[in-house]
Amino acid sequence: MKKRGISYEYHTILKDIIGEKHGLSMDEITAYQSRVDAAHRTLMEWKEAGEIGFLDLPFSSEAWVRDIVQKAREKSKGMETCLVLGIGGSSLGGKALRDAIKSPLYNEMSQERRRGFPRLYFAENIDPETFMTFLSLRMPNKTLVVAISKSGGTAETMSQFLIAVDWLKRNLGNTYANHIVAITDPKEGPLRGIAEEEGFDTLDIPKNVGGRFSVLTPVGLFPAAVIGIDIKTLLEGARAMAKRCETPNLADNPAYLNAVIHHCYDVKRGKPLSVMMPYADSLLSFADWYRQLYAESLGKRLDRQGREVFSGPTPIRALGATDQHSQLQLYMEGPFNKVITFIRVEHFRWDVEIPYPLSYQTSLDYLPNHTLGQLIGFEQFATAHALKNNHRPTVTIKIETLDEYALGQLFYFYELQVALQGVLYNVNPFDQPGVEWGKKLTYGLMGRKGYEKYVEKIRNKTL
Ligand code: PA5
Repeated sequence: MKKRGISYEYHTILKDIIGEKHGLSMDEITAYQSRVDAAHRTLMEWKEAGEIGFLDLPFSSEAWVRDIVQKAREKSKGMETCLVLGIGGSSLGGKALRDAIKSPLYNEMSQERRRGFPRLYFAENIDPETFMTFLSLRMPNKTLVVAISKSGGTAETMSQFLIAVDWLKRNLGNTYANHIVAITDPKEGPLRGIAEEEGFDTLDIPKNVGGRFSVLTPVGLFPAAVIGIDIKTLLEGARAMAKRCETPNLADNPAYLNAVIHHCYDVKRGKPLSVMMPYADSLLSFADWYRQLYAESLGKRLDRQGREVFSGPTPIRALGATDQHSQLQLYMEGPFNKVITFIRVEHFRWDVEIPYPLSYQTSLDYLPNHTLGQLIGFEQFATAHALKNNHRPTVTIKIETLDEYALGQLFYFYELQVALQGVLYNVNPFDQPGVEWGKKLTYGLMGRKGYEKYVEKIRNKTL
């Protein structure tokens, strides 16, 4: 496999290209350099202190990777289905991996086309109709359940887990534990305790890696390995991006540059909406992953000194070309409050020439002799061009062919961007007090001991 870098193009944010009013000047960008240097030093200090672990993940040992692959093989042997129970950061990365590297239609494929690997589902939501319908369609003796939760106590994941354990136990008796893998904190939390008590196989999520930064831990890597994704090459891609972005110098670090562009547009130019619009179905789940990473990391009430700031741009995900017929009108002519990121795939892994199976002329005869891949490529180009003419800032990430190496680069690029951007906002990009607050209220409403105080005022369930 030829290993290619992804390219990052940003000239369509510059004043010379999109005009004085909405474009940025190179001076504005380079004026950020000293702040970026300081933010970079902060990230490095946190890394050295062992407080953040995601920066080290691309450099994980080969033995560690081999163990994950080995366990994935062992546990999925003879299984038709792998069901991941997890939510937010414990699910979105794995799903992005499945869709990008295999296909959003992977689970529709025959066993032969899946090369014998099981189907891979992510339960995520706790809508009882969906979850129970799903279980009713599966054979317990052919299902591997992978429970993923860093805290080990998230109500959504743990409720599904209890239902799934009960389902396996009732149907399989003593052998049920062979059908479960728990991926959680190395020592703490209810899931860790249960796994030890019941003898489930486990994999650790490093203490210093939070949910949304955990795709390159067993959280994303184990489900990926279950369906035969080459996780070694994925990490190699991430490593290549880590090396490319080693320097804080904006001229050489595309992740930091992207952070600056988005920060500047939000706080100085009134463009707080950040749209990610891949032109490939296989990257739509990646855009979902990005949306969570961006929203939970940057949306904060307090800054690092505890002052109220209410910071955070809003991430939006769109899909090209589909959303050209849905949201594009707004992006093109609505308020000047967005920065749009296109992700372009140059060569699709499967393309088709558009035929002309008609014996008479129509106005459609311009379509044949082109492939669908060309059509979607032209549509992206045309959209970018039209937005440029309408003075709308865009950046474009180009991927030659979507493979593990490219995706590893992409994951790391955005993790690094968001981490630095968080420091530019002077917030902690690694916590999520708003999410934790919601969790506490839910625990209280569900009657969990110790959480009564959070719901005293809302006991009667009115807002
Ligand atoms: O990014 C995060 O930290 C969150 O989105 C979590 O991943 C999510 O809340 C699930 O938490 P847990 O993995 O503890 O079940």
